[in-house]
Amino acid sequence: MMNATINFIGAGHLGKTIGKLLVQNNIGKILGVVNRSYDSAKEAVLFMGQGTPFSSLEELPEADITFITTPDDLIESLCSKLVSIGHLKEKSIVLHCSGALSSTILNVVKSKHCFIASVHPARNFADPQFGVQHYHGTFCSIEGDPEVTEKLKYLFDAIGSITYFIDGHKKAIYHAAGVFASNYLITLSKANLDCLKEAGVSDEIAFEIMISLMSDTLNNLKKIKSPEKTLTGPLKRGDLKTIEKHIAALEDTNKMMSHLYKTLALSTLPLTSLSKEKSEAINSILSS
Ligand SMILES: NC(=O)c1ccc[n+]([C@@H]2O[C@H](COP(=O)([O-])OP(=O)(O)OC[C@H]3O[C@@H](n4cnc5c(N)ncnc54)[C@H](OP(=O)(O)O)[C@@H]3O)[C@@H](O)[C@H]2O)c1
Repeated sequence: MMNATINFIGAGHLGKTIGKLLVQNNIGKILGVVNRSYDSAKEAVLFMGQGTPFSSLEELPEADITFITTPDDLIESLCSKLVSIGHLKEKSIVLHCSGALSSTILNVVKSKHCFIASVHPARNFADPQFGVQHYHGTFCSIEGDPEVTEKLKYLFDAIGSITYFIDGHKKAIYHAAGVFASNYLITLSKANLDCLKEAGVSDEIAFEIMISLMSDTLNNLKKIKSPEKTLTGPLKRGDLKTIEKHIAALEDTNKMMSHLYKTLALSTLPLTSLSKEKSEAINSILSS
């Protein structure tokens, strides 16, 4: 694996980050990069510090490992194109890094006696330079042909990942979990900021309050290791009147946020240990 030759089809946020980590750690050798535009491939090669930019799949040399790290919707069709062009080394690995898709979307390469896999780093690569600097300890799920998953574990461990194997059939629910932990945390941050703005708090202070509260909650969760035991607030205490006031205030200002509040509260109620009566009373307010 250390000497493996590597191609990237789609070296964008994630591809560039992984590519640079491979180069920095002296793992394999990047041969070719094809992006949508040649200029972008050139820029990716410059960032990664190795490889040659090409303007089409037809020009890509054969490699031991081919990363297809384009947007998810393009992976399957680009993989078919790669097969039809035929520049695929026998027994080489073709992989993608999508969290939601199974490696089986690459099945077409089996006609060329290649192996398939998917490795998903659970991290936000919005800034590749930052991604490279802070990659160490990134959790990566791996699934695919058993002939190659151990090899890929070795490769991703070597760049600082914490790897583990998952079932390819469970990728969608696995990815939904990440959306809850990452994307919807942002949704909640926006709701928090909107409420503070409505309360007349300045943008600057509102942002600090939000980060402080969210960080405290995450730190407590990290220490206590249980959502049920970490929960505090009016729902946990069963403060029905306070909840009614929240809903009324939200209805007055932003109907969508009131809906979000109620939906989240309904999912939070089972985490409390309120009496059946109290729980039912709150449930009926939330469901109205
Ligand atoms: N970003 C993340 O935080 C993250 C995290 C985990 C997993 N992933 C996964 O990583 C994969 C890539 O995501 P990304 O965020 O890195 O996407 P991205 O930044 O949008 O990069 C996609 C790359 O694909 C290239 N591309 C587009 N169409 C192409 C085509 N027809 N032929 C060749 N290259 C083409 C683009 O080229 P141009 O530059 O020329 O447009 C770009 O370099 C996805 O499967 C995603 O699910 C991403």
